[in-house]
Amino acid sequence: MASAAAAPAFPARPPEALFEPARSRGLDAPVSLIETARLMRQNPMAILPEALFEVPRLTGPYLGRKVHEIAGPEHMQSVLQDNVQAWRKSPLILRMLTPILGDSILTAHGESWRRQRRILQPAFTRRRIEHFAPLMADAGVEAAERLLASDGPAEVHGVMNDTTFRVIEQALFGEVDGFDRTRVRAAIEVLLEEIGRVRLSDLAPWPEWTPRYMTPGALKARHVFRKAADGQIARRRASDEPGEDLLGLLLSARDADTGAALTDREIRDTLMTFIAAGHETTAIALTWALYLVAHDSECQDALRAEADAVCGARTPDAEAAGRLVLTRQVIEEAMRLFPPAPILGRRAVSDTDICGHPVRKGDVVLLAFYCLHRHRTLWDHPGRFDPDRFSPERRPRHPFQFMPFGGGPRACIGTRFAMQEAVLVLSAIVSRAIIAPAHGEVEPVMQVTLRPKGGMPLRFEAR
Ligand code: HEM
Repeated sequence: MASAAAAPAFPARPPEALFEPARSRGLDAPVSLIETARLMRQNPMAILPEALFEVPRLTGPYLGRKVHEIAGPEHMQSVLQDNVQAWRKSPLILRMLTPILGDSILTAHGESWRRQRRILQPAFTRRRIEHFAPLMADAGVEAAERLLASDGPAEVHGVMNDTTFRVIEQALFGEVDGFDRTRVRAAIEVLLEEIGRVRLSDLAPWPEWTPRYMTPGALKARHVFRKAADGQIARRRASDEPGEDLLGLLLSARDADTGAALTDREIRDTLMTFIAAGHETTAIALTWALYLVAHDSECQDALRAEADAVCGARTPDAEAAGRLVLTRQVIEEAMRLFPPAPILGRRAVSDTDICGHPVRKGDVVLLAFYCLHRHRTLWDHPGRFDPDRFSPERRPRHPFQFMPFGGGPRACIGTRFAMQEAVLVLSAIVSRAIIAPAHGEVEPVMQVTLRPKGGMPLRFEAR
């Protein structure tokens, strides 16, 4: 039987034979505050110092306080886990997210966050997520067909965005009607753009309660989304069956400690949060994975052999997704080189320390996952695409050395959903198409997520 074959492996190759993709270069020397603000608007990746690929922490001045830039596993653990109560999400990111996501699990703090996390966690158990495997596999097949139908290079980022949008939309709402999907999708895209665009005014040290300016287009888009979501919630409440999709789970979810349910407004904000947090991030992970395998035909051969052995001619299910181990390693390596969330910010709400280094209330920390993932003291040949480094024998031992999904109590709630989806979609594409680079250099830029500037053209040919 094909599935009983020897453990799959990537071909052994010397490091020089491995693809070295484009990388974001950091600052060689500190720059003025005005220059920092300019770079933040253009591409926040550009403010990371080059030295942070060599040392675990750098500290500099910041508006009368200090900014600590960190890129070491112990330092990450200190902020996200050991001293988590001393830190809050950065005021900048809260300013950008709250007008659209409300006081949702992603933006809330303290008891409000704890309650929402407790209620939502059961929606993300293995069994619940496995239920979505056929939907994800079908979306992967459809994506492969679209990429293969392209006359000339296909714009991969756009197709991946459509694919992950379809998955999250159907996982949330199932096959319901009752709203104009195209209109709602367009509204959501406007809202995600609004979240992703840093304005100069966002960088000023406003008190946290100052409202953020929203364009008339974004206000209208928010209205369109909220109306559609409220309509779905009301419709579902009126029916006898809550449903097995995420909306159904949100409606029937109860706090195990108190028995309390989510309010309709919390459910609506959670729906938007899952779309905002889960659709573009997964699309980006897939886009970079396809870029990397396009430059590595031996890796593609290994993935195809794995798909043939595990799935044969049948559509993969959740059990098969668990056995696509090389495909999973490629996704992990893609997120190491290009973490969809490359930098997170936090602000100290009390005096604390980071691995013994003193921190004062009001200081800012930048968690530079991008530098952590390419740190010269932690990884062999950190700039090379080497999915074998995630094999059981070689994978990093420290839980905070590889952290595309963050870490500690606020780590991504959708990790399992995202990994299952990315594995199934990548496998569907690679098993149907031979992928090759198109033209030109690819530049990573950060716009909340780490995107390829100007898109990602690649060539697809039927296998
Ligand atoms: C490859 C895909 C994904 C990546 C790279 C990713 C990354 C992350 C990261 C880094 C965080 C931590 C943010 C912080 O600490 O400030 C996070 C949190 C979160 N993610 Fe994801 N995510 C992905 C997919 C998803 C999906 C599919 C969903 C939902 C269906 C989701 C929902 C959330 C939520 C709700 C939080 C907030 C959790 C909390 O604060 O308790 N994410 N994600």
